[in-house]
Amino acid sequence: MKTIIEPFKIKMVEQLRFTTVEERKQLLEAAYYNPFLLRSDDVLIDLLTDSGTTAMSAKQWSALIDGDEAYAGSRSYYKFEDAVKDITGFKHVIPTHQGRAAEKIIFSILGQEGKIIPNNTHFDTTRANIEVSGAEAVDLPLGIKPEVLADFKGNMDTEALAELIKRVGRENIPVIMLTVTNNTGGGQPVSMANIRAVSEIARANGIPFYLDACRFAENAMFIKLREPGYADVPVKKIAQEMFSYADGCTMSAKKDGLVNTGGFLAMNDDALAMNSRNVLIVTEGFTTYGGLARRDLEAIARGLVEVLEEPYLEYRLRSVQYLGDALEAQGVPIMRPTGGHAVYLDAKRFASHLPQEQYPGQSIVCALYEHGGIRSVEIGSVMFGKYDTRGALIPSQMELVRLAIPRRVYTQSHIDYVAEVVCEVFAKREALPGMRITYEAPVLRHFTAHFERIAG
Ligand code: F0G
Repeated sequence: MKTIIEPFKIKMVEQLRFTTVEERKQLLEAAYYNPFLLRSDDVLIDLLTDSGTTAMSAKQWSALIDGDEAYAGSRSYYKFEDAVKDITGFKHVIPTHQGRAAEKIIFSILGQEGKIIPNNTHFDTTRANIEVSGAEAVDLPLGIKPEVLADFKGNMDTEALAELIKRVGRENIPVIMLTVTNNTGGGQPVSMANIRAVSEIARANGIPFYLDACRFAENAMFIKLREPGYADVPVKKIAQEMFSYADGCTMSAKKDGLVNTGGFLAMNDDALAMNSRNVLIVTEGFTTYGGLARRDLEAIARGLVEVLEEPYLEYRLRSVQYLGDALEAQGVPIMRPTGGHAVYLDAKRFASHLPQEQYPGQSIVCALYEHGGIRSVEIGSVMFGKYDTRGALIPSQMELVRLAIPRRVYTQSHIDYVAEVVCEVFAKREALPGMRITYEAPVLRHFTAHFERIAG
């Protein structure tokens, strides 16, 4: 049988609310053309993020009821700790309410003015937490163009890493990070060979090496499918090997923990763990709950088992690719090959008549909502653009629109509908207007910025 089916059936459903194009025009205007400011009830298919949007399994819901809500030392914490240690092998496991809380803790300890933290590509909150600490976040992606096919486009440029260490000095690099899969770089996987190579460079220089492990299971499955020598290795073993090269990780369990909230920081270093727990107690909560209800830890423990089930991962990667294939068949420019959790439209080619200063990605995002009620997110110059001293935009290297697929939520016909809407917007792409920012916050502006359409 060639058809890969959803390895679950549906037990509970949530009604969708349909709106008209006219209604969405008004809703979008009232949201200042920023879909982050829309109400989810006004969205038909929500592809804003794959984070915290997972449908939990019956076993996870029943584990919630079994949660032990003790402030300290709850049974649920120990189940969670065992589950994390089983996969990562790290000595210390520190729960946090989500991924960025783990980032905040570690960078508030390791980051400061003059320090430099490299990554294949930093996620926006990772970069922000590093910059808030005074340190500098440096991206070292391979820089492969969106239209070029390659198996592991998420890899770090290890030559650039070695050069950076030589140039700035190992004493100024408190940690080297690697994000698996590389979300900002298109949800592209990192190969085991690259993880090993980065680890070797880190160890040779005495620098700790951490994984940003949000989508570790999807990355492990890509290794199984694409990297020579791994086809017959169980995906859990692959994940364990990935972690074995690192000294610690930050994790948002809202992705490959298959839960709606939660995360953790894990590491081998005793002194750093002690410092991290002290920050945790001040900012998040006690060491055995870290800002979560204990029942949430139960759901993560179970989620970490389910996410490594191979029929699930096979379905997951295949269903994302299904959308990518449908778009490519109609000539829609996308990042190739499709990523693990999302399809990324290449806005530079999609809306090639718009200069980067007019935010082509944002224009597409608005059109997808207006035309079909689909919410997506711009990952380009709105998210990463900066200004030079004269106030001119320094655009992002890539202009992408991310269609992130929540885990176990939408069916194949929802995805068929998404493909149809994207293709219809693409067919009328010349009519896409440029966008102008009318309000922006000094950090992470994309969440709250206001826009208007440029008449023309
Ligand atoms: N690292 C990566 C690679 C991420 O994708 C995210 C979140 C985080 C860290 C932070 O985790 O949200 O739990 O605090 N990404 C979400 C997204 C928000 O939509 O891609 P968090």
